[in-house]
This record gives sequence, C-alpha cells and structure tokens, in this order.
Amino acid sequence: MTVKVVGIIGSPRKGMNTDTLVSRALEGAKSSGADTEKIYLNDLKILPCQACTRFPAPDYCFFHDGMDKIYQALLNADALVIGAPAYFGSMSAQLKLLIDRSNCLAEMIALPDGKVRFISRLEKRKKGIFIWVANLSKNPEPALVSIRLWSKYFANVELLDTLLATESDLGEGARNKKEYLEQAFNLGVLLVQP
Ligand SMILES: Cc1cc2nc3c(=O)[nH]c(=O)nc-3n(C[C@H](O)[C@H](O)[C@H](O)COP(=O)(O)O)c2cc1C
Repeated sequence: MTVKVVGIIGSPRKGMNTDTLVSRALEGAKSSGADTEKIYLNDLKILPCQACTRFPAPDYCFFHDGMDKIYQALLNADALVIGAPAYFGSMSAQLKLLIDRSNCLAEMIALPDGKVRFISRLEKRKKGIFIWVANLSKNPEPALVSIRLWSKYFANVELLDTLLATESDLGEGARNKKEYLEQAFNLGVLLVQP
C-alpha cells in the first residue's frame, strides 16, 4: 500500500527556508514511492485554543475551522514532516496554534496515585521528522519540548529525527545549502522505510 506523507509548514514565507526543506523531505519520500501532500498552516484560519474544559468527543474540538484539515491529516497520514522557523527561540505561532488545538486529541487518565497520564485518541501510529529553521539561534530544545509532548501523547507520532538548519538568512540561506537539502531528502526517504 502507498505510504502517505504530509508536510506541515509553519512559516508564513512560501518558497523560503522551512518550505524548501520540508518540500525536499517530501521529495525524498516521493522518491521512495510515497504519496505526498503539503499543508501551509498560514493559509488556514485556526482559532487559538479557548480552554473550554469540556471534552468534545467524538470530535476533536468544538470549533470547526482550519484544524479540521489537520485532524484529517493526523487520522490518515502514515508519516509527517513538520517544519517551523525559530521565532523568539521557539517556534512560529502558526505551529503553536496547531499544537494547542491538539489538546483534545488525548484523553487525560487519572491514576490511583494521583498522577495523570495522557493517551492519544488517534489509533494510527505515524512516523515523523521535525525541521527547525533558525537564523542565529542554535538551541532547538524550547521548540522540541512542545514537539515531543505533542508527538508522543497527542498526535501518536514516533519522532525519528530533527533537522536543525541554522544561519537561515545569512549568505545563500539555509534553503540553498547542499548539506541541509541532502539531510532533508534522506529524512524523507527514512520516513517511508518499513
Ligand atoms: C517574529 C520573528 C521572530 C524570530 N525569532 C528568531 C529567533 O529567536 N532566533 C533566530 O535564530 N531567528 C529568529 N527569527 C528569524 C527566522 O527564524 C528566520 O528568518 C527563518 O529563516 C524563518 O524561516 P523561513 O525562512 O522559513 O520563513 C525570527 C523571525 C521572526 C519574523
């Protein structure tokens, strides 16, 4: 069966670094036989999470907007390429909105010892890679804290690797650097391996 890989682009700048590297990863996946799709978060109208504290099951949210496209992708994709620029050391608001609106993708289970556990409501396990694009910042950890939590407990994604592309706006730009383009392509290939 054909593997479906969805690229999610968190930068508003089409054709720039995040877009180029996510697209390159999708090319790698396609070269290994995958069907690919690209979603530009900036093209979607996504309301911020309203913390309404009610559970929307069987839906994933009470609000129906651009997130419906994302929920469908998370239900149907076999693998994800998630790309975001570093904004203030972390990630763009476009991607953070998606993450916050994933809050009801998990059920919170209370344990007898008083602790709680989140369990994803999405049955399908997906592979994923994260591409973080920064100009001067070097530390992806602030972004990765959210990406790891989201992947593991909410989106049911096994995060295989992270590509760090720095000095994105210096010189020729990260989008023209052979090493990043190669790494992105190879990660796309990796996503399709059984
Ligand atoms: C609001 C804003 C905040 C930014 N914050 C950072 C930052 O903290 N660290 C950094 O290295 N670059 C920062 N940048 C630069 C972007 O990360 C850089 O331009 C990146 O290439 C954007 O990705 P894109 O080329 O795919 O649009 C910021 C840019 C903007 C617009």
